[in-house]
Amino acid sequence: MSATRVAVVGAGGFIGSHLVPGLLERFDCGVDAVDVDLHKLECSDARVQPIVGRVEDARLVDELTSRCQVIISLTALCNPAQYSSIPLEVIDGSFTHLLPLVTRCAERQVRLIHFSTAEVYGRRALDAQGEPAERMNEDESCFLLGPVERERWTYACAKQLLERVIWAHGQHGSLPFTIIRPFNTIGGRMDYLPGIDGEGTPRVLACFMNALLRGQPLPLVNGGQQRRAFMDVSDMVEAVCRVLERPKQSNGQIFNLGNPDNDVSIAELARALAAAFASQLPERAPARYEVVSAEAMYGPGYDDTQERVPDIGKARRLLGWKPQKSLAESLPSIVHDYIERYADRVAAARPAPLSRLASCE
Ligand code: UGA
Repeated sequence: MSATRVAVVGAGGFIGSHLVPGLLERFDCGVDAVDVDLHKLECSDARVQPIVGRVEDARLVDELTSRCQVIISLTALCNPAQYSSIPLEVIDGSFTHLLPLVTRCAERQVRLIHFSTAEVYGRRALDAQGEPAERMNEDESCFLLGPVERERWTYACAKQLLERVIWAHGQHGSLPFTIIRPFNTIGGRMDYLPGIDGEGTPRVLACFMNALLRGQPLPLVNGGQQRRAFMDVSDMVEAVCRVLERPKQSNGQIFNLGNPDNDVSIAELARALAAAFASQLPERAPARYEVVSAEAMYGPGYDDTQERVPDIGKARRLLGWKPQKSLAESLPSIVHDYIERYADRVAAARPAPLSRLASCE
C-alpha cells in the first residue's frame, strides 16, 4: 500500500476497533482513529493518532482529507431497532453527515473506502430483471425496499443514496472509491448489552448474548426462521487490507463482503450460541427460547429480510479473498469475549434478592 496515513472514521465501533490493529499489523502507516467514543479501541500503537470528533465537523473533515491518502468511513447508526424509532438520525448518520466528507474526498482525490450495507438489497435477492435469485450481486441485483411507512428501510434508502453519490463522483469526476457492503459481520466487541453499556435493542448477536448472560429466554422474532449469512470480523479485516493493497482492482468497485457458507436461520444461530455458552459455563441452566412478534420487539414500522446471501465472486476474483472462518470456529471466542466483558457486570446489575431488599428497609 502506498498510503502513509489512513483515517479510520468510526474507529471506536465494532468493525473499526478490529480494523485499526489489523491495518497496523499489515502496513507501515499512520492511522488517524476518529470516533465520538474510542473506548472499544484497545490499541496503544504509537502510529495511531486517536481523535475524538464527529464526521460532520467540517474542520475535522478538512484536516483528515488534507493529511490522509485514504479515508475509511464506517460511521452509521446500524441497529434495525433505530431505523423506525429515530429515522431522522439514521438518515443523517448514513447520508447527510457524510456528504461533506464525500465531497471533500472528491475535490482532493483522496481515496475513499466507504462502508455501505447489505441492507441496500432490501427484502430479498433479485436478479437484473427483478426475478427472485439465490444471491445478492453487486452489479446485477435490483433492490427491493418496502413502502415508506415501513420505516425499517430508511437506513437502506439513505445508504443507497450515498452509494449513488459516491458512484457519480467516481463516474463523472475523479473520486477514487471502493464501496463495501458488509453482510452480518460478527465478533467480539459487537454492539452493547442493554442496561449495561447501552440502551434499546442491539443486533441479534448481542440480543442473544444478553439473554444467555442474564439467564433469560432467547427471543426469536417471528419464530426465527429468517436466515442470515454470518461472517467473522477477522475475514472482514483481511478483505479491507486487500482492498487497500489492490487499488487498481478495487477502485470504482462495489464489493459484497460476507460468508455465504455460514448461512443459517436465526433459530440455528440461537442454538449454536447457546451450545457455545453452555460449554464455557456448564453450571448455568440450559438455554430457553421464546417466540416474540416483530411488533413486540421493534414496534410498528419494522420489516424483515427473510434471507440474505452474498454473491462474493467479485471479491474472490479481484481481491483473491475468501472468508476462512466457519460459524463453529467463530462462536467460541465471541462467547468468551462477551463473558469476559460482561458476566461480572451483569451479575452486579442483577436486582438484589427480595430478602435483602426487605432487610434494607
Ligand atoms: C442489520 C443491519 O441493518 C445491517 O445494516 C447490518 O449490516 C447487519 O445487521 C449486520 O449485522 O451486518 P439485520 O441482519 O436484520 O440487519 O439485523 P439483526 O438485528 O442482527 O437481526 C437479524 C435477524 O434476527 C432479524 O430477522 C431479527 O428480526 C432477528 N432477531 C433479532 C431475533 O430473532 N431476535 C433478536 O433478539 C434480535
